[in-house]
Amino acid sequence: MFPIPLLLLLLTPTILAQTASSKRGLVVVPSSDHPEDDSIWITPPTTLTWYYNYGSRPTSSLSSSNLSFVPMLWGDHNNTFVEDVRGQNDVKWVLGFNEPDMGSNVGGSNIRPGRAAELWKRDIEPLKGDGKDLGAPGVSGSSVGMRWLKEFFEECDGCSVDFIPIHWYGNFEGLASHIGEVRATFPNKTIWITEFGWADQPLAPTQSFFNTTLKYLDRLDYITHYSWFGSFRSDVSNVGPNGAMLNSDGEVTDIGAWYLGRQGEGVKPDNGNSAARVRRGDWVLWGIVYFIIGVWAL
Ligand SMILES: *[C@@H]1O[C@H](CO)[C@@H](O)[C@H](O)[C@H]1NC(C)=O
Ligand SMILES: *[C@@H]1O[C@H](CO)[C@@H](O)[C@H](O)[C@H]1NC(C)=O
Ligand SMILES: *[C@@H]1O[C@H](CO)[C@@H](O)[C@H](O)[C@H]1NC(C)=O
Ligand SMILES: *[C@@H]1O[C@H](CO)[C@@H](O)[C@H](O)[C@H]1NC(C)=O
Repeated sequence: MFPIPLLLLLLTPTILAQTASSKRGLVVVPSSDHPEDDSIWITPPTTLTWYYNYGSRPTSSLSSSNLSFVPMLWGDHNNTFVEDVRGQNDVKWVLGFNEPDMGSNVGGSNIRPGRAAELWKRDIEPLKGDGKDLGAPGVSGSSVGMRWLKEFFEECDGCSVDFIPIHWYGNFEGLASHIGEVRATFPNKTIWITEFGWADQPLAPTQSFFNTTLKYLDRLDYITHYSWFGSFRSDVSNVGPNGAMLNSDGEVTDIGAWYLGRQGEGVKPDNGNSAARVRRGDWVLWGIVYFIIGVWAL
């Protein structure tokens, strides 16, 4: 006969596997060339429960889905963030600035901690009163980022930060150690990983990083949300092709399928060469046709 605790132990993995997916979200990187790609993320089955798009308003092509939209105040510009958020139903969480410790040349919002604290008090803190959970500024995964964040917390006295969003582009050991440092620095805050990947690696290490990391993040209870940086085609990726969830033809790669909780079909990411070859092939064909027409016209 099974002692009860052992039975529970045997059941736990299934329960974990089911609830784990609820942490999973989408970083929306829209494509003006292929707006149709958006429908891929919300076509069932999907493990995704939430998304953000670096902005304060939902993405219209995703609004028919069940994904919770998480607004972000990206940077330092006068806007109507508080009103924007108050105008939406069902907002539970709000994200602070995107990589304020980084220059705009690399996608950062480039704000000093003191200025960020001023903006926070004006544009984010009021939402705490409405019952939203507030995410700290999402700094880069570097030592500069940690220094920036500590300074922000010193400047932002009386600010109600509920969770710490972090970014990571490196190997698994580095990510685990970074999470450990953030946890040690802010022991009472939950953590979101709002961008992560192992940039510019071959396919096999990228896939094993993906598998190892997701298992790890699903297991840690103080990590409540994460979003893999890869909701784009591999040929336009700025972190190397192999983490992309779509190949250059817009088909779901294995990593894309695994992330969405589907069966991988062996679709490999690529850097667009095959598509380019097809296009070059077309030109050769048309060249021959024009040549024949030209010769015939003579
Ligand atoms: C939203 O969730 C409900 C309940 O789980 C489900 O029946 C419905 O199909 C979902 N809608 C979409 C667009 O995924
Ligand atoms: C931006 O907002 C601040 C505070 O509300 C205000 O003092 C300032 O004049 C605004 N700047 C612009 C350019 O509108
Ligand atoms: C964390 O929370 C505990 C219990 O609420 C409190 O005693 C402790 O001071 C907090 N630690 C920090 C660093 O805020
Ligand atoms: C990653 O996990 C998927 C299933 O989720 C599995 O099919 C695949 O073989 C794994 N790959 C590696 C490299 O671990």
